[in-house]
Parts: sequence; C-alpha cells; structure tokens
Amino acid sequence: MKDFIIIGNKAVNGGKISLNDLPGSAGRMDVLCRCVTSALFISFGMRRDINVWLILKGEPSPEKIVRFNGETMRSLNPDERSSGSLIQKALLIDASDVEKQSTPGVFVRYGNLEKLLSEFEKEERPMFYLKEDGNDILEMVQNHDSVALLENGVYILGDNQGVFEEDEKTIENAGASKISVGPISLLSSQCITLILNALDRAAPNKSDDE
Ligand SMILES: C[S@@+](CC[C@H](N)C(=O)[O-])C[C@H]1O[C@@H](n2cnc3c(N)ncnc32)[C@H](O)[C@@H]1O
Repeated sequence: MKDFIIIGNKAVNGGKISLNDLPGSAGRMDVLCRCVTSALFISFGMRRDINVWLILKGEPSPEKIVRFNGETMRSLNPDERSSGSLIQKALLIDASDVEKQSTPGVFVRYGNLEKLLSEFEKEERPMFYLKEDGNDILEMVQNHDSVALLENGVYILGDNQGVFEEDEKTIENAGASKISVGPISLLSSQCITLILNALDRAAPNKSDDE
C-alpha cells in the first residue's frame, strides 16, 4: 500500500467549486487533480494499492481531507474535470470528523496534516517528505530493505506553493525522511510519476489492475 498526501495550501474546502476555473477560484485545485491522475492511473487501468489524500487548507471551512481510494474507485477519468467533479461532490456533503463516502472511492472529513500524520505514525508507516535535497530515490531503490519501506510508504508533497514552515515542522515531528526525485524542482504530479516509476522498476511484478 502506498499513500500520497498533497498539501493544497489555498484549495477551497466548501461550497460549489467551478470546474471551469480549477486553477483560479478553486485555489489551484488543478494541481491536486493532476496528482490524483498521476497516482491512480496507468494505461487502461488503475493502481488499486494507492490512496491519495488531499489536504484542503483554503476557505471557507475548517480544513478538510478528501481521500481517493484506488481499490474502490469508480467513475473517475484521467482528466482534471473528472477528479474536480468528484472533489466538488465531496465538498457538498455534510462533513464531520469521521470520514464519509461521497461517491464510490472518494471520502471526506474534517482534518489536517497533523491529525493525518499522527494516524500514520500510530500504524508505524514509513513516511517520506518529497524535497529536492532529500535522499535520491534512485539510490534508495538499489537496496531491498529500502524498497520494502518505499512500497509501504506515505509520501508527502506540497502544491505549487510548496510546503510552508509550519507544515514542514509537522512533517519533521512525524519522523518523515526527505526523499528526492532529482535536483530540479518539478511539478507535484511529476514527482508522483517518478516515484511510482522508480518503484515499478524496482518491483516489476506487482498486481496492478488492468
Ligand atoms: C512545484 S513544487 C513546489 C515548488 C515551490 N516553489 C517550493 O519551493 O517548494 C511542489 C512539490 O513537489 C515536490 N518536489 C518538487 N520537486 C521535487 C524534487 N526534485 N524532489 C522531491 N520533491 C520535489 C515538493 O514536495 C514540492 O513541495
């Protein structure tokens, strides 16, 4: 199982979002939608062993977490409007601190990064913070023990604004180690593709659904 957490610093978390303006009035929701596509889609199929957690830190509600679960996902296409529309549906239901399913494979609740990471800490999951100056993933996948950890990893990424200091402290306190996909700062969705590609090559016989 792998989990990707993307911090949406300005992503709206309530009301109706405009699918025609995901980058603008929805607070760069397009970045998060592309991350969903990169994490879940392969050609003619979906990676079923992945969760994508979107932390919506914008307005107007307290922070919400929307989860896309590869195992139970239905009615999702690779384009941004498709994931945007499922996020929109998630934001229209009455959220609580307990996760509720809004559409098949999509879940929503109130929550923030600290709460989510504390849950993963309790499960003793290995956590990785995506950062340009981290350990090179291509070196890590040379080592079998590291591959086992990476295969069960929780990966934390920023959006177009990166990760602000307060969230970096939270990530550090949760014990995440820094991991890099190269020296150049890439788009969040590109980083996800590179992580999954490195793992696909390290363990090529995984059973992803076609
Ligand atoms: C578009 S980048 C953020 C750029 C932002 N200007 C900054 O300085 O953080 C989005 C996220 O992708 C991840 N990222 C980008 N390039 C990376 C790289 N080469 N290695 C690891 N993570 C990277 C980081 O988590 C970053 O927060």
